[in-house]
Amino acid sequence: MINRDHTVIFIMGTSGTGKSTIGKLLSKELSLPFFDGDDFHSKEHIQKMASGVSLDDDDRFGWLTRLNELAKNQLITNNCIIACSALKEKYRDLLSNGIEKNVKWVFLNGSIDQVHERLKNREPHFMPITLLKSQFDIIEAPNNALQIDIGLSPEEIVHLIKEEFLNKAVFGLIGLGVMGKSLSLNLAKNGFKISIYNRHVSGLEENVALNFKKEYDVLSDALPFDELEGFVNSLQKPRKIMLMVNAGNAIDMVIENIIPYLSEGDILIDGGNSNYIHTKERFDYLKSKKIHFIGAGVSGGEEGALNGPSIMPGGDKDIYKVVQPFLETIAAKDENNLPCSAYIGNEGSGHFVKMVHNGIEYVEMQLLAEVLSILKATGNNLAQISTILKSWKLGSDSYLLDITIKILRKKDGEDWLIDKIMDKAGNKGTGNWATIAAAQLGVPSTLIASALFARYTSFYKEDRINLQKKYGKEHIGLHLDLLNDEVLNAYQFSRIINHYQGFNLISEAAKTYKWDLNLSEIARIWTNGCIIKSDLMRTMVAILKETDNILIDESFVKQIKSLKPSANHVISQCIMNELAIPCFSEAVNFLNNFSTANSTANLIQAQRDYFGAHTYQRIDDDTEKFYHTDWK
Ligand code: 6PG
Repeated sequence: MINRDHTVIFIMGTSGTGKSTIGKLLSKELSLPFFDGDDFHSKEHIQKMASGVSLDDDDRFGWLTRLNELAKNQLITNNCIIACSALKEKYRDLLSNGIEKNVKWVFLNGSIDQVHERLKNREPHFMPITLLKSQFDIIEAPNNALQIDIGLSPEEIVHLIKEEFLNKAVFGLIGLGVMGKSLSLNLAKNGFKISIYNRHVSGLEENVALNFKKEYDVLSDALPFDELEGFVNSLQKPRKIMLMVNAGNAIDMVIENIIPYLSEGDILIDGGNSNYIHTKERFDYLKSKKIHFIGAGVSGGEEGALNGPSIMPGGDKDIYKVVQPFLETIAAKDENNLPCSAYIGNEGSGHFVKMVHNGIEYVEMQLLAEVLSILKATGNNLAQISTILKSWKLGSDSYLLDITIKILRKKDGEDWLIDKIMDKAGNKGTGNWATIAAAQLGVPSTLIASALFARYTSFYKEDRINLQKKYGKEHIGLHLDLLNDEVLNAYQFSRIINHYQGFNLISEAAKTYKWDLNLSEIARIWTNGCIIKSDLMRTMVAILKETDNILIDESFVKQIKSLKPSANHVISQCIMNELAIPCFSEAVNFLNNFSTANSTANLIQAQRDYFGAHTYQRIDDDTEKFYHTDWK
């Protein structure tokens, strides 16, 4: 077992950049063992290079694997330093394979002329100068290395490395609200040395970071700041900084304020619920400044952030790799102990997927609210309802079902707390954006829209009070005649439709925006840590490997067919009794509509053509030609 506090420092760069010199000097100063990668070449390799032929990828494979094993062995008991050219990304992947969290890179960087000059003066070496060009031809600059100019003296370089690795933090967090604080504690708990920043607002937010650090022993190593320059300078390069501030203008303000202190190649991660379109704009803007940007959806609320959230990062894949060890360490783990964090795709796709997560969440919440209405209307009190819901956990369990049971059992003095809560549902925008996105993409995400509009309707409290008097709905529920199992079936039916629509929205967005998204993997990272984790989500993982359309999966076809009669009955009973169930009824309507081969949309087309000459296609002409009729 590798000690996670141990580190291997790889010093990389082309031949002649001084890797061995720096490695030895650093090894002396830090009292750490040093290994020169050159000493691990086989005789054949040395002969090959000495004869002026450079090694190919196959040759290098064995050598890099040996160095990886060396690093792993050292890490069991010790830190160490290894010099190795590691010119390509895939070589570095091989070197750090399995020890990603323990590796630090130093890239000794110089121009070919600079290196050429130095090689002329170096002691005899098996690598002829003629091979230098081939090295410069293939080198891929690393995204995750401390880059140092070889123009500096060895002492200066070693001083820089020590400064960076010994005293600086590996990850920074901006914004110490509930989520920012929980993520900070999560990172610190996992052994990362972090820097934390919260703005200073006189009289309102003073010494927030410092006071937060003082509150928790686990933060004893953390570096607290309330000014950005010090915060940025306290971080190892390339800096990895997570913004946990309110979505919207606050993000842009922080970005503007921090840019002057950042260096090329630094990485900002927006962990808030940002709009995916803004994420793409910020990504492009920061790219123009040579700063990387990752838009990461983070789900799980305060508890998830603290103990393991589900994380949905989008942006450049190679940049994700740099922050991957941090995100994967703090993320929740799925049933196979894999992290509930995975690279989603380009640009704003991470925030898009989080937005759809929230859309699904809105529907799941609304369905449970409708279940509450129905079960009340069939004559149950809150204690009975929570008992019924508890019995649903067997087979239909979810985080939201679980918290609903707890909420229904919460007392406020002698009364139930739920009865004292004003029935006006708030929102912070993600359900709204999901509905807008669905409309823009032309995707029928009708349940998300229904759940959103149900929240909006709830806000018209005054109107509802007045209209209830006018329409005389005083006796709701008295006639509802339903079995609890029917309600459960209708609930499960609606949830399947909800999950179909959510994943369909993601799949359609992926086609339009040309994102290469993996739906099964998205379902997997939603099996733990997030608000919509559930038994159902776990079954989706395998099904989405086979198809993007869960409605054609045979096991779902069977389930839907057996649940639908209950859904029909529940909905018709509710409608006859004037009980509002917008999501339940939309689920049934949607499937009825979506499984109708010949619809009356032909009339819509005819009407459009009648008043606007919008033309129509004919079912007896498969050339897809458009027709217009003079209807008068
Ligand atoms: C989560 C939640 C979280 C929050 C949203 C929804 O995944 O942890 O979705 O992000 O609850 O902000 O909030 P609204 O209901 O206020 O829109």
